[in-house]
Amino acid sequence: MKFFLDSAILSEIEQAYTAGICDGITMNPSLVKKAVDGLKAKGEKIDLERYIRRALKVAKGTPVSLEVTDTESAEAMVVQGKKLFKKFNPVAGNVYIKIPVNPSYDAAPGKDFEGIIAIRALRKAKIPVNCTLVFTPEQALAAAKAGANFVSPFAGRIDDMLRKEHFVPFSKEDYYPAKGLSKEGKVLEDNGVVSGIDLVGQIVKVFRQYGIKTEVLAASLRNARQVREAALVGADIATMPFSVFMELMRHRLTAEGMKKFAEDTPEEFRKLV
Ligand code: G3P
Repeated sequence: MKFFLDSAILSEIEQAYTAGICDGITMNPSLVKKAVDGLKAKGEKIDLERYIRRALKVAKGTPVSLEVTDTESAEAMVVQGKKLFKKFNPVAGNVYIKIPVNPSYDAAPGKDFEGIIAIRALRKAKIPVNCTLVFTPEQALAAAKAGANFVSPFAGRIDDMLRKEHFVPFSKEDYYPAKGLSKEGKVLEDNGVVSGIDLVGQIVKVFRQYGIKTEVLAASLRNARQVREAALVGADIATMPFSVFMELMRHRLTAEGMKKFAEDTPEEFRKLV
């Protein structure tokens, strides 16, 4: 399974690539806002175009997803997706355009297919696409049919929705079991999906069943155990914040063992090397 960094913060991108375990980057408008706000807080002058260009160079050879923000119609997404691709892909040849599976949020009649139409049009123009905000296997299948290279199920947000009414308070990083949680003897579910990882697993299963080449990119992962579970259900990619990248490497016994080894090392051995 590939590890992607879910961040637009350049220092995090640089650290993850220096470590050599980062296989790509995902960004979205909220993550770009976080990066911009961070720069503003430090009083730094913002040249976002230059900033993104630097990130693309660091990630050269691996995919970087940039998301459209003009989402009122398929046409608007295609126009913006093409502009983003034209502007940024020449930097390092690694841009993927992120398109929401269904950009309509006011249930406007007839608007439900705009994301799928945009995906198909961008793929026809040979632009790689990451289809985002996927919450059902059906949405994933539709995106794959339209030719999306990646589909991004948002695991953590499914968990949030399921536990919100029954298990408050909880924090975003809290582990939610892949097999779901029960309340009064009933497993909580969203139309047959019992957790974010269950959603990822169902999509993987459907894609494998039909030999679909679209990669399943498990997104909105908030802790290392969820990353492990994404791997166990066969996700192709897991994207995670930098904090989770660090968490992947940590265990109390590793730290304790290191402390003891450092204390025990005899001076004679130190002198040898
Ligand atoms: O990759 C999707 C991600 O940025 C959303 O994460 O934690 O806000 O649900 P989260």
